[in-house]
Amino acid sequence: MCGIVAYNGSIAAQEPILHGLERLEYRGYDSAGVAIQKDGKLQVERAKGRLHALVERLSDGPMEGTVGIGHTRWATHGEPNVANAHPQVSNDGNFALVHNGIIENFQTLKNALISEGYSFQSDTDTEVAVNLIQKYYDGNLKEAVARATGDIRGTYAFAALSAHEPDTLVVARMDSPLILGVSEDGVFAASDVAALLDYTKKVIYLEDGDLVTIGAQGYTIENQGEVVEREVVDVPWDATQATKEGYDHFMIKEIHEQPKALRDSLIRKVSGGTVDLSDSSYTREEILAFDRIYMSACGTAFHAAEVGKRALEDALGREVQAEVASELRYYMPFITEKSLVIVISQSGETGDTLAVVKEAQKRGAQVLAVTNVVGSSIDRASDKVIHCDAGPEISVASTKAYSTQLLSLFLLALDFGEKVGRYSPEEVRARVKELSEIPDTIEKMLEKTIPEVDAIAEKISKKDSIFYLGRGLDYLSAKEGALKLKEISYIHANALPSGELKHGTIALIEEGLPVVTIITQSELVEKSISNVKEVKARGAHTIVLTNDEAPEVDSVADDKILIPKTSDLYAPLISVLPQQLLAYKTSVLLGNDVDKPRNLAKSVTVE
Ligand code: G6P
Repeated sequence: MCGIVAYNGSIAAQEPILHGLERLEYRGYDSAGVAIQKDGKLQVERAKGRLHALVERLSDGPMEGTVGIGHTRWATHGEPNVANAHPQVSNDGNFALVHNGIIENFQTLKNALISEGYSFQSDTDTEVAVNLIQKYYDGNLKEAVARATGDIRGTYAFAALSAHEPDTLVVARMDSPLILGVSEDGVFAASDVAALLDYTKKVIYLEDGDLVTIGAQGYTIENQGEVVEREVVDVPWDATQATKEGYDHFMIKEIHEQPKALRDSLIRKVSGGTVDLSDSSYTREEILAFDRIYMSACGTAFHAAEVGKRALEDALGREVQAEVASELRYYMPFITEKSLVIVISQSGETGDTLAVVKEAQKRGAQVLAVTNVVGSSIDRASDKVIHCDAGPEISVASTKAYSTQLLSLFLLALDFGEKVGRYSPEEVRARVKELSEIPDTIEKMLEKTIPEVDAIAEKISKKDSIFYLGRGLDYLSAKEGALKLKEISYIHANALPSGELKHGTIALIEEGLPVVTIITQSELVEKSISNVKEVKARGAHTIVLTNDEAPEVDSVADDKILIPKTSDLYAPLISVLPQQLLAYKTSVLLGNDVDKPRNLAKSVTVE
């Protein structure tokens, strides 16, 4: 969603705020703005478009002052333009506010303010909030923010400044991520740690309802009127992980980081050659007592959930449900206090997934989260957590997070399978060994595959539609491949089970249409090959991604990418990589902004 950075300290505020916004640009990038307080005056600058547009505006004369707020936006209320960019300023010009989240009752509040004589320049709900702060201001900014939040129904992370209080910054959180960063030079507030890594690794994860006054001398956190202490924790990530380190884009850097991410993940979840999830898993008795097991997530994480469902079904010999979070949150009639809900989320902040966590817990269910971000809302709300250990993922299109999600779920399945007695300890060790070899396998494959994929990308970049086919787990992998391609190339991509093709979609196959088919599932090779034949016979450009060296494949594939063989269940961990590369290269060839694709945001905290 949007990104917030705020600072109050001893150095000029503009530089750390802009730097932090640059790190957060992946959260939203349709407009940006900054407000800095100097000698009792608010200086505000905003620009439509990417952050560099704002930076250009500020290049003539940097704003002076050591207290400020900044924002990079992903539009929810109102189109992306300067008027709707944050910070929003109150009618009297004395208050500035940046906001993440959505104020649900903004129209009612706006009407009431209009009847009291307030006027509005933007379509945003944030402008309503900043005018409420003006209305309630009675000599104390913190009190005014507290009263304003009392009127608001919805979600927010706020950072507010007032011309009346030159040394004060006030921030507040409700269901929208906000952290504090503590450094020798002052105190930061930000939507996530990536913004702060160059300045401090000491952070505080704020709780819902926290209201923080940040002064020149430090900060005070209150919740429901009481002063509270929150733990300062060290973030395990370092600043270089959030830079491109010589790569052209974060996405290609993150694709290449997958072997390392998987190794890091294995180190923390495997011990003595077997799975060790410690407190992150359940006991045999608990597993057997679950009446139902659901998996839920959004986007790429949901594709990991679908593969994870198969792994768990294999491990437990019982049905596991997988449902997208935006649906499950409103329809979970069968989830009870005996159920287990496993949610997967890279960011740990996705609104729909967090809603599933809360709704499931309301029903008394156990929630296990698989997330990459320690301290995120889903991390903290869930009963148990498995961390993916992928390191910061900046590119909007998820790559290394997906592979570590798969790995985490495969290890969870092994753990469950052994505990319920479906897998022997030897079998688990053998499978762990296989998984432990995958990082090396992927490393070698990357080198070999890149030129092959590049040549195919040249061809598909000229097309406006593409199909992805697969059977079983290959279909699930194809879904992720198609999502990657459409997210960053904007080429229409549709994944479907190969066998379903003949029930309608085959009507769309025409001369030269690219069709990518994944073939890794040993039982289904022949059947998949006949589907490739079907589309080839109708003129399609057939691209086959396979670990099977059957000569039959060569006879039907116009282009073939040979990938290393694994057991069927783990094949998605390998087959996804060439598909990530294909999407990446195609996007580059089309001249798109790979890391920040249009209309998308990395962390979608709203519905
Ligand atoms: C957004 C992103 C996707 C991501 C999805 C789930 O839609 O654009 O790339 O897969 O959210 O994100 P999460 O952080 O929950 O894994």
